[in-house]
Amino acid sequence: MSDTSFPDAPRADAQDKVRGALRYAADDARPGMAHAALAVAAVARGTVWRIDAAAARAVPGVRLVLTHEDLGGVKPPGFIMGGGYGFQSIQPLTSPQVAYRGQPIALVVADSPEAAAEGARLVRADLAAEPHQVTLDTPEADIVAQADSPLPKPMFADVTVGDAAAALADAAIRIEAEFRHPAQHQSPIEMLSTVAEWRDGHLTVQEGTQNAEAIRHGLARQLEIEPARITVLSPSAGGGFGQKNSLQAHTVLAAEAARRLERPVKLVVSRAQVFHGGSFRPASRHRIRLGADAEGRMTALVHETDSQTSRHDLFPTQYTELSSRLYGIGNFRGRERLVRNDVQTPGYMRAPYEHPAAFAVESCVDELAYRLGRDPVALRLANDAAADPVTGRPYSSRHLAECLRRGAARFGWERRSMAPGSMRAADGALVGWGVAIGAYKAATAPAVARLRLLDDGTVTLGVGGHEMGQGMRTAIAAVLQRRLGVDPGRITVEIGSTGATPQHLTAGSWGTATVVPATDEACDALLRALDALPASRTPAERLRAAGRAFLEVEVSRRAPGQPEAVIGRLATGLPAAAGPAYPEFVSFSHVAHFVEVRVEPTTCRIRVPRIVSVADCGRVVSPRTAASQLRGGVVWGIGAALREVSEVDPRHGGFLNADLAEYVLPVHADIGTIEVEFVDEPDPRLNRPGVKGLGEVAMVGVAPAIANAVHHATGKRLRSLPIRVEDLL
Ligand code: MOS
Repeated sequence: MSDTSFPDAPRADAQDKVRGALRYAADDARPGMAHAALAVAAVARGTVWRIDAAAARAVPGVRLVLTHEDLGGVKPPGFIMGGGYGFQSIQPLTSPQVAYRGQPIALVVADSPEAAAEGARLVRADLAAEPHQVTLDTPEADIVAQADSPLPKPMFADVTVGDAAAALADAAIRIEAEFRHPAQHQSPIEMLSTVAEWRDGHLTVQEGTQNAEAIRHGLARQLEIEPARITVLSPSAGGGFGQKNSLQAHTVLAAEAARRLERPVKLVVSRAQVFHGGSFRPASRHRIRLGADAEGRMTALVHETDSQTSRHDLFPTQYTELSSRLYGIGNFRGRERLVRNDVQTPGYMRAPYEHPAAFAVESCVDELAYRLGRDPVALRLANDAAADPVTGRPYSSRHLAECLRRGAARFGWERRSMAPGSMRAADGALVGWGVAIGAYKAATAPAVARLRLLDDGTVTLGVGGHEMGQGMRTAIAAVLQRRLGVDPGRITVEIGSTGATPQHLTAGSWGTATVVPATDEACDALLRALDALPASRTPAERLRAAGRAFLEVEVSRRAPGQPEAVIGRLATGLPAAAGPAYPEFVSFSHVAHFVEVRVEPTTCRIRVPRIVSVADCGRVVSPRTAASQLRGGVVWGIGAALREVSEVDPRHGGFLNADLAEYVLPVHADIGTIEVEFVDEPDPRLNRPGVKGLGEVAMVGVAPAIANAVHHATGKRLRSLPIRVEDLL
């Protein structure tokens, strides 16, 4: 690819989106479809000792009711982080045990969604409740040191660099603080939904997902059939932020109902049920000890975490991957612990570790700036890392300083006065300006790409990746247009559905750095193959001149340092990505956020009128969707800092505000100006086009930038999210 910026091109699927022409799984509304609904447990832990579905079966139109008494043959999916495919290891409806409030206990299938919902409401279950725990304040016996867990090492090992205890003891300045982050839930616009259908012993599943192969292989394991007998269709997912990274608990239920009824079955997990039926961001607690010398050089950092997991799985954490590498600190000690609760297994949710970790670390760095009387931007620039502090390897690229400088200039940071409470707006509001930085690993997954050029000039590209609104199709089209000169209207991108190339998990912000280099290499192969044909004006003319109907090439591409065998793993549906540590270097994307808050002095209402965010994600291939990603991450950061919490009542378990009416999100009126900018420097060491990830780094650092701005406005250090009016009264 030539080393110039990409033009601002429209989103490839923009018109289809606004016309409603993009088809999501639940859009399938053929006649004859049966509809399913779930009945769920109303205790936080216990056993179903009697279940009575007679009233449900009597509802006109109800065709089938499944409970644990019917589904004994369905096998557990295995846990995605433990060699399996499910977001959690257990399969509801296969035993009388209830592991968490909201766990499905029956599936009701009917001719209409209304009859199914009515039937589900009428399922009567007698449950023997058992004691439960749903907060981090649990007995020690529920706490597991991650270092002692069977999770794969070194990925989930505690990070230690130098001697943090000694460096802390020697430090001229020490900052110690504890931070709390609540459980939070994602609510993608497309809810968890499945259409399952059997034809001649072949199961077809339509479901918006980030991991079509996991659904295929997980269902094969659960139903004990060959993966070749399953097709998963997911051409577009309506949002995927980690929750859709694995096999859901409801999918096999829809498949089993469809098999028994010999009809297609649609199951849409209701918005309320998603709060217990899918994974969520676990509650976490972070104890930070930061040491610096009198000049403000950070010399020691200790980061100890406790993070919620379920009773049945150890959802691993990597909070210290961020904190050990955000700055060039020579002495670091991390210790991560998991706290067992009676909840469904938590999971990945945009910047799962990095956002809470950055809140803790970047709040402390701001506090350090105030202890030193030093400008917070200057302090950060003075502590930038020259090489990766954990491995000593160079960064493939690191433009964090550039993000800070550009952001400060654009924001007008030099007009900030340091003292808290020293800036006021014309209307009397307290003005606070805050800054924070973020990082996110630049991971890469292996991929197979198949590129076909037809003699009519159209191009079809199949590669492993999922379009969930982030703009993957647009990025792929941009590469094909640049390399082959083909018009976007003549490009078909086949991603997300099993059948063509392996559809490996798209997560961890590795989508672009996976599909763009693979597409680029497929273009190389196609152009080489064309070179063997007679010369002509266009590639399509060369094909026609050679009497060829089409030309097809296939390439497979691995991340730097990955063995060839990893390509085989792609087709198994198991995770195969690499990074941030590669053999020769370490790769991260970076961001700097500059935030203005205004605090109304009598009500203490916090507004965020203005944010400037500058990101380094390598070469930006799709400027329009990248800008949208960065803004979306910032909006989510505002939500995480000021609005979002999944409320828990320890007496009852589960999550109380399980719907979008009571789970408070920022609305349009809460969002002010968000200016975004990219460094747009390619990172050719990571891959030839020089792309790194963006989706998650976009959000990292927004929450501490807001908390730091609130401190600047009010003098208050708030260490528990979300920050609310009552915290300032
Ligand atoms: Mo992302 S939270 O890795 O889907």
